[in-house]
Amino acid sequence: MSWRDFWNGEHSIYVSPRHKALHYRAIASDLIAHIPSPDAVVLDHGCGEALDAARVAAACGRLNLCEAAPNVREKLRTQFGRLGNIAVVSPEEVEALPDASLDLVVANSLLQYLSRDELQALLRIWHAKLKPGGALILADVIPPDVSPLTDASQLLAFAGRGGFLTAALAGLVRTAFSDYRKLRAQYGLSTYTAEAMSALIREAGFAEPARPANFGHNPHRMTFKALKPA
Ligand SMILES: C[S@@+](CC[C@H](N)C(=O)[O-])C[C@H]1O[C@@H](n2cnc3c(N)ncnc32)[C@H](O)[C@@H]1O
Repeated sequence: MSWRDFWNGEHSIYVSPRHKALHYRAIASDLIAHIPSPDAVVLDHGCGEALDAARVAAACGRLNLCEAAPNVREKLRTQFGRLGNIAVVSPEEVEALPDASLDLVVANSLLQYLSRDELQALLRIWHAKLKPGGALILADVIPPDVSPLTDASQLLAFAGRGGFLTAALAGLVRTAFSDYRKLRAQYGLSTYTAEAMSALIREAGFAEPARPANFGHNPHRMTFKALKPA
C-alpha cells in the first residue's frame, strides 16, 4: 500500500465525525483569513474532504479543490458539485490551468506525503499558476524534531477542547495498529527545517516567506506564506 492508496481508501485518521468536522472547520477559517479579496481565485491543493469548502467558496470568487485520490474527488463532487464557484480538479488538471490565473494557493498537511522532488515540481507549478503578487501558503509542515508523541498530545489537547476526548484516546490506540502507522514506519514522513523550507520556496522564485501562525490545532508544525514577486 502507498500513501496514495491509503488516502483513496477508507481510513480512520479522524477519530470521530466530530473530530473531522472540527478539523475541517478550523482549516477553512484559517484559509479564509488569508483570502485577499472577495473575487480571489483560490486553489486548495491536497484538500482532502474539505467539509467546510462551501464557507471558503462563499468568501472568494472561485475555489479549486485539488485532490489526488479519485474516491475523495468523487465525494467532493457529490458534496459540492451544485456550487457554481467550486471546481474539483486532479493534480493533472492543476497543471492545465492557465498560467498567472490564481490569487492564492494553499496546501495544508500535504508536504509530509511528498518526496522532495515532488515538492520541488509542485512549487514550480504553483509559481507558474499564481498571478504576480499572488500568495502561496504551505501549512502544517512538520519540522524534523517533532515526534509522533507530540502529535498525539496535541490531538488530545484539541480533543479536550472539542469534546471528543474519549474518541481520541480510542483513535490513538487504533492508529497504533493501523495502516497509517505501518506506512509511516515504511515510508516515513517528509520533514523540513524552517531554513530548508524557506530555501526551497525562494529557489522556486518566491519572495522570502513569512511565518504566520500554523493552520489547525498543532502549533509545533509550521506555516510559510510567500508572495510571487509582482
Ligand atoms: C493529510 S490529508 C490533508 C487534507 C486537508 N488538506 C486537510 O488539511 O485536512 C492529505 C491529502 O492530500 C492528498 N494528496 C496527496 N498527494 C497529493 C498530490 N500530489 N496532489 C494532490 N493531493 C494529494 C491526499 O489524497 C490526502 O487527501
